[in-house]
Amino acid sequence: MNFNLNQLVRKNIKELNPYSSARQESVASEVKIFLDANENSFGSPLASEYNRYPDPLQKEVKEVLSKIKHTNASNIFIGNGSDEIIDLLIRIFCVPGEDKILVCPPTYGMYEVCSKINDIGVQKINLTADFQLDIPQILNSINEKTKLIFICSPNNPTGNIMAKNDLLQLLQNFNGLVIIDEAYINFSQQKSMISELELYANLVVLQTLSKAWGLASLRLGLGYGSAELISIMNKVKPPYNIGGSAQSLALEALQNIAQVNEWIVNTTTERTRMANDLKKLSLVEKVYPSDANFLLVKFKDAEKIYHALMAKKIAVRNRSKETLCDNCLRITIGTPGENDLVIDSILELEKMIPEYNKFKNQ
Ligand SMILES: Cc1ncc(COP(=O)(O)O)c(C=O)c1O
Repeated sequence: MNFNLNQLVRKNIKELNPYSSARQESVASEVKIFLDANENSFGSPLASEYNRYPDPLQKEVKEVLSKIKHTNASNIFIGNGSDEIIDLLIRIFCVPGEDKILVCPPTYGMYEVCSKINDIGVQKINLTADFQLDIPQILNSINEKTKLIFICSPNNPTGNIMAKNDLLQLLQNFNGLVIIDEAYINFSQQKSMISELELYANLVVLQTLSKAWGLASLRLGLGYGSAELISIMNKVKPPYNIGGSAQSLALEALQNIAQVNEWIVNTTTERTRMANDLKKLSLVEKVYPSDANFLLVKFKDAEKIYHALMAKKIAVRNRSKETLCDNCLRITIGTPGENDLVIDSILELEKMIPEYNKFKNQ
């Protein structure tokens, strides 16, 4: 492997003279009276600190996160959701109209959408039939225009974790960045790839506080990478990308690890129970193994189930049109009561279908 981060960065970003925010400059020189950012000096209709721009680098939140994740604060980037980080990486490394990213469908749709918005090509190498990475095909397809490979593990919408050896093979054989999106890692037994950051300069790990941490509304995505990469990301991001309220609420929430761990246990217990209950239903063809907080379920007629659940005001995600996901719905694990309602609604539909009754009467 011959990875050189500086060579990978777009020329215009390398030459960028970044915006230096007022708060960055005044905090650095320990100013006491802030007349440098055109804020309202008299106060805020809310708590007093909201009249001030927030810490542009979210140092306190990163300090706490670094202890939880056993990494340095300098290796952490916080984005307005991981979606912001995906977009930022594409803009830093891919020249519009020239470069490409590589994705492995079926997977999280924003990698492709962000690329298209930025006029970046998308190379697609489908997952194998058991939803694992097709390493020979991926390695065959990458060329000097391929700058980023996005791998989602556990994968959305399939739910499975990718084999660690495959991830390592990509890291060892690709001179661009391998971005491993671990939005659902808290629900898996497999360890985060954060532990590999010291070994692989081309590794970026994405996580989020939107899933297990229960903070989807705050919009806090986490990126982990080399300190060199994080400082480039800091240069390109909007100066105050994380609001002050999100930062203070995150600090409060990060004290509640025990509660989050309890929810993870509840979710994975319900995941097993739901998978077993669904497998017993005659309208279900297959329940795929999941390392996430959802199940991908193949039905005889997904459309029918989708509408039957909608009629009961239960929303699930119809993934039938996705590669390899024919007749599949993605069902988030709910509370036990919510999950019961899903099962009961499908059972009710089964009873209305003549073949089911015929089968039952035999
Ligand atoms: C795999 C994956 N990555 C990233 C995200 C986006 O997360 P965030 O809320 O941090 O933007 C999602 C959201 O569903 C996801 O499924």
